[in-house]
Amino acid sequence: MEIKEIRLEELDPERFIKEKAQEISSAVGGNLAVNALSGGVDSSTVTMLGHRALGSRLKTYFIDNGLMREGEPNHIVSLFKDLGVEVELVDAKEIFFNRLKGLTDPEEKREAITQAFYKDIFGKIVRESGAKYLFHGTNYTDVEETVAGVKRQHNILEQLGIDTESIYGYKVIEPLVQLRKPGVREVAKVLGLPEEIYNRPPFPGPGLVARVIGEVTLERIEIIRRATKIVEEELCHTGAFQYLAILHEDKVTGIREGKRDYGLQIEVRCWDSQDAVTGSPTRLSYDILDRLAEKVTREVPGVVSVTYNITRKPPSTIEAI
Ligand code: XMP
Repeated sequence: MEIKEIRLEELDPERFIKEKAQEISSAVGGNLAVNALSGGVDSSTVTMLGHRALGSRLKTYFIDNGLMREGEPNHIVSLFKDLGVEVELVDAKEIFFNRLKGLTDPEEKREAITQAFYKDIFGKIVRESGAKYLFHGTNYTDVEETVAGVKRQHNILEQLGIDTESIYGYKVIEPLVQLRKPGVREVAKVLGLPEEIYNRPPFPGPGLVARVIGEVTLERIEIIRRATKIVEEELCHTGAFQYLAILHEDKVTGIREGKRDYGLQIEVRCWDSQDAVTGSPTRLSYDILDRLAEKVTREVPGVVSVTYNITRKPPSTIEAI
């Protein structure tokens, strides 16, 4: 890879912010730029950095793809409003679900997200606004995994030889691409983002799609959204790097009120990791696991089985697709 990594021990967040703000403002000049905020650490950091460099010449959008966690779109828009950043909420649920219809292959689902996001939505926003640049929160690990062919991270374009200017009509600027997650968190803190954001467990760009094995439908997203909420509530105090629920495609025979119930399977993953490059399953207590199984089978309709993944990364990856 040609990109030079800035390791955490080499990072001076103040200097990094100053240099990147200068680079951004000289690259964009008098033009307009846009970016998408999802509320994750990376996109939040890019949003703050971009606004510091460009002020009102940067317009920020929250793309509601229908694939986020419960209540997330409105919560993030109002949190940024309190920080002085106006964010436009775009309802794009139909575009994403239409693109995903009928797809079961993981890489095809990721490609559908990329096309919905960069072609359908940002292609149009850029045409209408006259913006020439799109800011991205791509980090070093995203590029590394995509280039190595592990999985296509939704936000990797140029490193795969995709000329965004000729295909989508805008240039992509990636100010965080030399940093891994811990470095991004340091920069986020210095930019004045609240702890809720800079310490947020990572959440994948393709949203809950990364956690649904098989076809993504409105109903299946609703199931994984409910399971995610329970897993996050139960595991947020463990200090783990990331924790998530996965909806399996196969059903299994269960029993409810004495009758056969051919139902759904949810897999729980909880990771200890520094930067998502490698990871190991958190040694959760059996009491926690027991409570999780009980809550998920009681509160998520149709679920009769809950499992805990005990595999390391590698050979597992953190998300399921
Ligand atoms: P994997 O599943 O590859 O995940 O072990 C490594 C880290 O990256 C997150 N992830 C993504 N983030 N776009 C992103 O911005 C993506 O397409 C994507 N896929 C996975 C994942 O949650 C984990 O923290």
